Amino acid sequence: MESEVKPFYGVQLPRHIAIIMDGNGRWAKNRFLPRTAGHHAGVSSVRKVIEYCGSVGVKALTLFAFSSENWRRPQQEVSVLMGLFLATLEKETAKLHKNNMRLRVIGDRTAFGFELQEKIASAEHLTFDNTGLNVVIAANYGGRWEITDAVRRLASQVVDGTINPEEITTEVFASNLNLADLPEPDLFIRTGGEKRISNFLLWQLAYTELYFTDTLWPDFDETELEEAIKDYSGRQRRFGYTGEQVEKFFIHNDGLR
Ligand code: FPP
Repeated sequence: MESEVKPFYGVQLPRHIAIIMDGNGRWAKNRFLPRTAGHHAGVSSVRKVIEYCGSVGVKALTLFAFSSENWRRPQQEVSVLMGLFLATLEKETAKLHKNNMRLRVIGDRTAFGFELQEKIASAEHLTFDNTGLNVVIAANYGGRWEITDAVRRLASQVVDGTINPEEITTEVFASNLNLADLPEPDLFIRTGGEKRISNFLLWQLAYTELYFTDTLWPDFDETELEEAIKDYSGRQRRFGYTGEQVEKFFIHNDGLR
């Protein structure tokens, strides 16, 4: 099978990278700073990975910025995170647009303040037709929420009579999820040492290669990302085939899609 991705220094480039950016709080604590200083520092890592992915030709980058469970954090930290999200959108949207990048936000945005919702909508609108890197921010997002939401919509289509239960195949279901137009993540990265998926893209990560690093998010940079891509590139993706079949047909990114 032919792969559509560009080789980069001889490595197989993932088309879609999904990242859990963990370790901001510990990074700050190590420096005797408030946790929120770690989130501020984390924004520069966000910038670095976006620039890197754009420059090497990755098609999509999904970043977990705020989970549906993060509301449980102290109120002050939640409002710093919201403020940071708003300020970063204000500051970076024009730059993303100039670089032909498309921005979108997945998650239940109805819980956000009016101004943030407006900014998200206008950034999505401005960059809608861009054909370069897809930058996806998961905010107030949870994988179970996303799946439940799709089930609810399909159930009402059944009630309306627009779809029969027998017509709900894996493909039809997947087309009702976020990011249905993008390849599923090839590479998942979690920084900060924990080895969990934490309710991120539960459906879409079914065949994704997982990479965990102890590096705290504010210390994660281009070199660390290149390391993760090299590690990914050396793996054999089987998608249920045998190792021999994979070697014969050179299946890498394009398995069972
Ligand atoms: C996890 O570290 C990080 C977060 C919950 C927030 C991530 C947000 C940013 C990097 C900045 C804003 C992002 C955008 C896209 C503008 P943690 O606080 O759980 O760290 P800890 O595990 O060390 O406590």
